[in-house]
Amino acid sequence: MSRIKLRYPKIDDAQRFLEILSNPKFIYISANPKSIEDEIDWIKLNSKLRKQNLAWNYAIILEKQIIGSIGIMINPHRPYVGEMGYFTAEEYWNMGITTEAVKMVEEKGFTELGLKRIEIKMEPENESSERVAIKCGYHKEALLKKAVANKTGEMRDVLLYAKIFDHK
Ligand SMILES: CC(C)(COP(=O)(O)OP(=O)(O)OC[C@H]1O[C@@H](n2cnc3c(N)ncnc32)[C@H](O)[C@@H]1OP(=O)(O)O)[C@@H](O)C(=O)NCCC(=O)NCCS
Repeated sequence: MSRIKLRYPKIDDAQRFLEILSNPKFIYISANPKSIEDEIDWIKLNSKLRKQNLAWNYAIILEKQIIGSIGIMINPHRPYVGEMGYFTAEEYWNMGITTEAVKMVEEKGFTELGLKRIEIKMEPENESSERVAIKCGYHKEALLKKAVANKTGEMRDVLLYAKIFDHK
């Protein structure tokens, strides 16, 4: 049985998400809320994104505490392709939490959302994120040049990992 639970984010989660994301070691993630209001706005946006099938984001819960977040963005032009993103509070790194969460969201993606392909992108220096993708059975397909803007707006190269739905 899984150690973690996933649920949709609530307004009350904003402070904790802000706290986790304010860690200066979070250098390879573009999410960069500057205030509690930014975070509340993001949480409010989520129900609209779900209604439009644009993004399905979840809080990761361990023993009733929020310890991170994971989500899948749906390509609006190709709604059979999703891209996963995730973060976990530093105190919980290297415990296999994100690996577990990716497997859970992937299951939702391939079964409930009808995705045929799920991608994960990360900067090549983000070795722990790459390791998560590898552990979850994603395959390295490419190095995309200047494909993702980081927190400061700088365009960065990213590795493209992907998994194809195999009708299992
Ligand atoms: C990336 C991140 C989500 C990984 O979460 P996590 O819960 O620690 O992931 P897991 O424990 O499931 O797996 C981490 C793996 O990376 C490995 N790892 C950690 N640091 C590493 C490093 N510097 N080099 C190589 N491997 C590393 C761990 O040993 C572990 O692999 P193992 O199980 O084979 O030992 C987390 O570090 C994080 O939130 N980082 C900041 C936000 C971020 O970068 N998000 C991803 C954007 S693409």
